[in-house]
Amino acid sequence: MSEHHAGARRIAVIPGDGIGTEVIDVARRVLDAVAARHGFELAYTELDWSCRRYLSEGAMMPADGLDTLRGHDAILLGAVGWPEVPDHVSLWGLLIPIRRGLRQYVNLRPIRVFDGVVSPLRDARAGQVDFVVVRENIEGEYSEVGGRVNRGFPDEQAIQESIFTRAGVSRIADYAFELAASRGGHVTSATKSNGIVHTMPFWDEVVAERAAAHPDVRWDAEHIDALAAKFVLAPERFDVVVGSNLFGDILSDLAAAVAGSIGIAPSANLDPTHTYPSMFEPVHGSAPDIAGTGVANPVGAVWSAALMLEHLGHPEAAADVLAAVETTLATPATRTRDLGGTATTGEVADALLDRIRRAGEV
Ligand code: NAI
Ligand code: MG
Repeated sequence: MSEHHAGARRIAVIPGDGIGTEVIDVARRVLDAVAARHGFELAYTELDWSCRRYLSEGAMMPADGLDTLRGHDAILLGAVGWPEVPDHVSLWGLLIPIRRGLRQYVNLRPIRVFDGVVSPLRDARAGQVDFVVVRENIEGEYSEVGGRVNRGFPDEQAIQESIFTRAGVSRIADYAFELAASRGGHVTSATKSNGIVHTMPFWDEVVAERAAAHPDVRWDAEHIDALAAKFVLAPERFDVVVGSNLFGDILSDLAAAVAGSIGIAPSANLDPTHTYPSMFEPVHGSAPDIAGTGVANPVGAVWSAALMLEHLGHPEAAADVLAAVETTLATPATRTRDLGGTATTGEVADALLDRIRRAGEV
């Protein structure tokens, strides 16, 4: 059921380092199984961009890496990072150039408490906690504008400028309102206009303007400090939470913790205009501590692959993948160690594939 394209969709696959390669292998097998069931094709280009490559060739990716990616419909990434390579090298040498160069201005993090996954919050129950953090992904607080002067002297100074543009705030707010409309839900905008007196009142004004263009969607704004507390005290209240780059970054990690395990959390870096390929990746890193031992939870990568299918216009296939994820999490024998189980990565993969192949049967 390829809704808007004939022919194979081209997927750039960057397994990366550590367990990135292990979980992406599972995601690919799941994608192949669900594509076969739904009658569409995925063609992969596997790229070895990673800290391994950095150590042997001096760069995380080739100089024309972004050009290579532009020739694809989507990017599936495992994780990058390795102890011998400083984390800022793997981040600024690969992830940030991709997010910025391909205008992936939305970072999307769905949060759900599943049956079978214990949230650290006593009252967070499966089926009740189900929300999405929408983080602005290319401007805001994480700008390259600023600098250091008088290095090493008593009057040394560091200046870091935040950049908020009308275009940037408008499009992230529009994305949040449209997403809430599609979920029949509401928007919460993260602000701090009482303390940050220039950029945050501007954020509030622009969000209010975009809200007026979506009169059917309820919304409110909450200060980031109070919002952080409410994520813990009443996570079931939220539906779509939109925040600037910094606020969204912090809230999305907090929310992933609420959901119970970093091993299941997915993310999407989206260019909603479909001008450039979007990138889908689990939230977790390369986990050097468990790499190579076969116990990594593949669910974060598999759920990320489901987000990719949705973005590519295959919502039924995405729903099949998520249903398979729900089943394996609800079954004690197919939970990995991070969820208190004993299943290996391979056993979870087999269970997911089995569930997908039987999805049509009653
Ligand atoms: P991490 O997410 O790799 O690991 C944190 C803890 O969670 C570890 O104990 C790990 O074993 C566990 N864990 C993570 N994913 C798991 C999974 N799928 N199944 C079972 N357990 C899992 O974060 P950490 O240790 O801070 O970073 C390790 C490396 O990964 C660093 O080099 C870091 O820079 C990089 N990293 C890369 C990211 C990316 O590629 N987007 C994101 C976060 C970290
Ligand atoms: Mg983060």
